[in-house]
Amino acid sequence: MIALADQFGRRIEYLRISVTDRCNFRCVYCMPAEGLPWLPKQDILTYEEITAIVAQLAPLGLRRLRITGGEPTIRPNLPSLVRMLHGVPGIEDIALSTNGVRLPEMVDALVDAGLDRVNMSADSLRADRIAAIARRNLGFDPRHAALAAEHAGLLPVKINVVVMRGINDDEIEDFARLTLEHPWHVRFIELMPVGDMRTLTWDHVVPSDEILSRLSALGSLAPDAGPERGNGPAAYHRFAGAPGCVGVITPMTHTYCGSCNRVRLTADGRLRTCLYGDHEVNLRDPLRAGDDLEPLYVRALSEKPREHNLLQMQVGGLRALSQIGG
Ligand code: 5AD
Ligand code: SF4
Repeated sequence: MIALADQFGRRIEYLRISVTDRCNFRCVYCMPAEGLPWLPKQDILTYEEITAIVAQLAPLGLRRLRITGGEPTIRPNLPSLVRMLHGVPGIEDIALSTNGVRLPEMVDALVDAGLDRVNMSADSLRADRIAAIARRNLGFDPRHAALAAEHAGLLPVKINVVVMRGINDDEIEDFARLTLEHPWHVRFIELMPVGDMRTLTWDHVVPSDEILSRLSALGSLAPDAGPERGNGPAAYHRFAGAPGCVGVITPMTHTYCGSCNRVRLTADGRLRTCLYGDHEVNLRDPLRAGDDLEPLYVRALSEKPREHNLLQMQVGGLRALSQIGG
């Protein structure tokens, strides 16, 4: 099978698919409390359309998929999409990024449909704080959700923590200690000042160097290859003898564009070759018109930017990550 490369020789084999822009949470770093202007239903790709796009791109080297949102688990019948994608020849790995709220009730159906891996979010281990950061009290229990994923065989469970100074950074150590007891990979993410930033500022960003030095104070920490297949953006470390890893994802202090192997499909069927910037190619309308997507895809990859310029960019001009697919 060929693997299509972009103009800088990066092989693109990983597609992130956003299935909805909506969410049952309203995380302070992601969405305004009142929500966003949601996409109208007819603009959103059906599961059949998503599968048709993936089936056209798989022969061009696409191998791995990640289903994102918004919050993907609130779209009805998500396991049926997983089953359809699992049936596309050439697709080797299907992962899900979720806020975890519905994971305990859905995880068995998802695994039965062919899901291979899961990433869940957890910005606090304290119920009152979870509700405050998510601006919704849905009774979310991160430990319970991670255990459900582990018991369903979705290993390694990855837990993403967006670190915000003065809001949840006092829990870095508590999160890290989870890796001493469980085969969970806790990844600390630097807050990105995009989307709804009415309450958060650059002062809330905790640089990864600071996170790592606080982790080192907990015990002996060694660099670890971590669980990534291909080139993920996380840098991993492991406490001596621990079943899990800790990692940092550093969108604010380091770029990893040089090893970027991914593109994104928005819920309304636009291909984004970079998370940031405004380069989008509409695949939905050509698909609905019965056109061949290959030339559009090849051209989009040839225009994939070398790197993003988030650090130089004016804050506020970006779509929220929930609208792009994270
Ligand atoms: N900064 C950092 N990470 C973010 N995410 C969403 N918005 C932001 C932001 N402003 C990521 C987090 C979260 C996932 C849904 O998307 O990892 O857990
Ligand atoms: Fe929803 Fe994720 Fe955005 Fe939180 S960060 S509001 S869980 S999409």
